[in-house]
Amino acid sequence: MPRIAVYPGSFDPVTYGHLDIIRRSQELFDLIIVAVNDNPSRDMLFTGDERVGMVKEFIGDLSRVQVERFEGLLVDYAQEKGAGFIIRGLRALSDFEYEFQMNLMNRRLNPHIETIYLITNQDYSYLSSSIIKEIVRLRGSTSGLIPESVREKLLKKMKG
Ligand code: PNS
Repeated sequence: MPRIAVYPGSFDPVTYGHLDIIRRSQELFDLIIVAVNDNPSRDMLFTGDERVGMVKEFIGDLSRVQVERFEGLLVDYAQEKGAGFIIRGLRALSDFEYEFQMNLMNRRLNPHIETIYLITNQDYSYLSSSIIKEIVRLRGSTSGLIPESVREKLLKKMKG
């Protein structure tokens, strides 16, 4: 049985912190499905398709990695994909409370899917999509945190 994992998130936008988690997950799983959440209730800068496009461009030809958009419950999506695992990155203690709540709720909804946490690379421990948006909006440097192409898309979106 192939070990399939879903790596879910908003990816609004994708950062090198996400890429680090994807690369390290490749060592652990046969297939990683990067699942870009597109639930209508969430307020995002980029559309679901734009976020999927950015992640695809970003990961290039990484083997055994797929990128898809998903709506609805994460555990239902994971089950539909035959994934037994969910991957989440953990940065600081502040992530813990949210992750803890999500873990217990997901486990209650589907006890057959296990969530695996990867501690962030310390170079990206302070990085989040929200802080990236703020820095780009205020024209600060994001070098080494997101690719130039993502920065350009952010600038364009913010102008429009
Ligand atoms: O990158 P994010 O915003 O931290 O990702 C959060 C995400 C998309 C993983 C989470 O909101 C999610 O799983 N949403 C799908 C709806 C769902 O299953 N909600 C119940 C989780 S307990």
